[in-house]
Amino acid sequence: MTGQLSNQRAMFDIPEDIVYLNCASQGPLLQISCRAGQESVMRKAQPWDVLNRDRTADEIERCRSAYGLLIGSEADNIALVHSTSYGIKLAAESLPVLPGQNIVVIEDQFPSNFHAWHLKTREVGAKLTIVPTPDDWDWTSAILAHIDCNTAIVATAPCRWTDGSSIDLVALGRRCREVGAALVVDATQSAGAMELDVNEIDPDFMIASGYKWLLCPYAFSFLYAAPRHHSAQPIEHYTWTLSDTPPLGMMRGDDMDGASGARRFDMGERNNPILPAMAISALEQLIEWRLERISRSVEILTDLVEAAALDRGMLMPPKHRRVAHIIGIRRQQGWPEDLQERLASMGVYVSKRGDAMRVSPYLYNEADDVQRLFEAVDHLPAA
Ligand SMILES: Cc1ncc(COP(=O)(O)O)c(C=O)c1O
Repeated sequence: MTGQLSNQRAMFDIPEDIVYLNCASQGPLLQISCRAGQESVMRKAQPWDVLNRDRTADEIERCRSAYGLLIGSEADNIALVHSTSYGIKLAAESLPVLPGQNIVVIEDQFPSNFHAWHLKTREVGAKLTIVPTPDDWDWTSAILAHIDCNTAIVATAPCRWTDGSSIDLVALGRRCREVGAALVVDATQSAGAMELDVNEIDPDFMIASGYKWLLCPYAFSFLYAAPRHHSAQPIEHYTWTLSDTPPLGMMRGDDMDGASGARRFDMGERNNPILPAMAISALEQLIEWRLERISRSVEILTDLVEAAALDRGMLMPPKHRRVAHIIGIRRQQGWPEDLQERLASMGVYVSKRGDAMRVSPYLYNEADDVQRLFEAVDHLPAA
């Protein structure tokens, strides 16, 4: 049942006078994650305690399962990595591209999901197709029109990070399978904020940085690898990734964990005693809140932002062409270069991305915050 959550500001550590509308930049840690982090830092102070090692191993597996639940996947398909760029690199290394084929991305795509593809096309003599921003904001049709039987990979996201304009990944996944192309998804600006189901999308790889909508600490991210790719080579080779290599060399004891499924893609030094403890409290809280309720609650705020912006004659992707949690607003006269600093000096936090003011509310915001944003915006000079 879709419902709305009550305001969750008390779960965070946000002073009363701060209007933080920038979850797409950094999600603030939950207070429970801060406490878990303080406790887990102390584990590193006492590394001789083997029970702590077991607790970390348990938290790592709980992170896999909890994130899996958020995207409709088994834990077995989830690797823990430190960044989106790391996961995209793995996808770029694993997926075949032949000379003359093309890789499809969109205009102004986030660099972590762009550079690896650009380099790959240069390496193999393939073509990088950059789909231009469609006038009607219909990204899905625009991308579909660029996929053909020469397409090796479509690498994109559920929405564009600068303005929230949305892309129907289920439709892209279907088309990719028809032409034999792979689909790689950067879900950083969507996982945790909206429902995403890998069973419907069927991506080859889907990566999400944890530090935004998943409320996880920095350098803690999630890689979904479809089972058909579980035998790909990991980026880093260390004890836990060696399950299919001969037992030569040091430290290949029977007491080591096996690396089943996507676990073999886990980053080096995965057994961090601090970050998984922080991440699991956030992921389990998201599960308790439920994605559809998070999305519905944030949508109400984004709609208020849209209404206030429309009143002022500003421009943005229409509601049916954007996600519910990010809205990128443009003005005819443009935004001042130092938009962020000016608003921050009034206690209001948003991002400037390209020519848009990107507003990304969360469960700690309320209607008053939107009002304060626009009071501040009304005091800005023309660009
Ligand atoms: C769409 C998108 N992908 C990925 C990232 C982060 O990438 P990385 O984890 O490689 O730093 C961001 C950060 O702003 C983003 O907006």
